[in-house]
Amino acid sequence: MTEAILLVGGQGTRLRPVTVNTPKPMVPAAGVPFLAHQIARAAAAGVDHIVMATCYLAEVFEPYFGDGSAYGITLEYVVEDEPLGTGGAIRNAAERLRCGPDEPVLVFNGDILTGLDISGLVDTHRQMDADVTLHLAKADDPRAFGLVPTDVDGRVTAFTEKPQTPEEIVTDQINAGCYVFRRSVIDTIPSGRPVSVERETFPSLLAGGAHLHGKVENTYWLDLGKPEAFVQASADLVRGVIDSPAVPGRRGEALVLPGAQVAEDARLADGTVIGAGARIGAGAVVQGSVVLDGAVVASGAHVDESLVGAGASIGLRTRLQGAVIGDGARVGADNELRAGARVWCEAVLPDAALRFSSDR
Ligand code: GDD
Ligand code: MG
Repeated sequence: MTEAILLVGGQGTRLRPVTVNTPKPMVPAAGVPFLAHQIARAAAAGVDHIVMATCYLAEVFEPYFGDGSAYGITLEYVVEDEPLGTGGAIRNAAERLRCGPDEPVLVFNGDILTGLDISGLVDTHRQMDADVTLHLAKADDPRAFGLVPTDVDGRVTAFTEKPQTPEEIVTDQINAGCYVFRRSVIDTIPSGRPVSVERETFPSLLAGGAHLHGKVENTYWLDLGKPEAFVQASADLVRGVIDSPAVPGRRGEALVLPGAQVAEDARLADGTVIGAGARIGAGAVVQGSVVLDGAVVASGAHVDESLVGAGASIGLRTRLQGAVIGDGARVGADNELRAGARVWCEAVLPDAALRFSSDR
């Protein structure tokens, strides 16, 4: 039996009006809530019991994922009244684990899409007889991550969350948000108060001489913190750049969900998803994008690497490039929205209201 804790609480999962009206882990990537991919990938690696550590909007998860039987696993939910932080959430969720004190427990950040060999990480953990084994990725700019230098044997020598100064940035190895804990180590995390596993638990374990092992695996790895990354993840899932058993359909240039209507001469490419009941007009081009359920992309519109929220509409000939359109928003005809543009849920942008100028 392999057990795992999936962290899906915290500020990042709150309602975010600049994206869509849904907690992030439930926003569909390649047609299903993003978390479905993490659960399906874990199940495929032999995980058979997952405890989901939830906090904000906890009530949305259980109706969708149920008892986990659709994934061939047992899924349980724990809800924090107040966010307990990553470490506090792990400690709290561990009360539902069934394994013995020496057994390995997987922990996943809920906002990562990764091709990590999960069972390989558990094997390494056992071979090294480590207290905690961390998957490490490499990042050119580690400032948004946990920095994890290791010695020649892979033993973790320090853990610096969100390093800022050049003196702190001593390596390009970052915490990739997947760990294997020896169960008894989780039980040493204080209970009943917020604890950051990154800022408190890892540093204090290191100070106490614990064996933390870092495994660098250069594999597909994407942190979905930004909407652009989310759109990229969805496109990669659709194209099969990263494999997930949860993608509902064949891999290819586009995934068109049942009930969507796509004009014959519309062009869908680069891993685009068209949600249920969405409509794509004649001559429209949608590339590398996520168009959620019930949205409308009018004729001649051009949607590139963008997220169009549920029920939103994109007017005739409008061009989106790297934009995020909130649920129910209406972008009129002949607009041009470029990278970084965020349209609030339900907002209305009139026809020909916005364009980008190349004026110097
Ligand atoms: N249940 C619960 N309660 N979950 C939480 C809480 C909490 O209070 N706080 C955070 N989480 C969950 C988030 O939902 C997310 O899935 C995960 O824990 C990590 O939290 P983030 O807020 O996304 O942290 P981050 O992205 O800034 O940094 C983390 O991930 C990086 C990799 O993407 C750290 O673990 C870094 O060290 C790491 O490099
Ligand atoms: Mg994150």
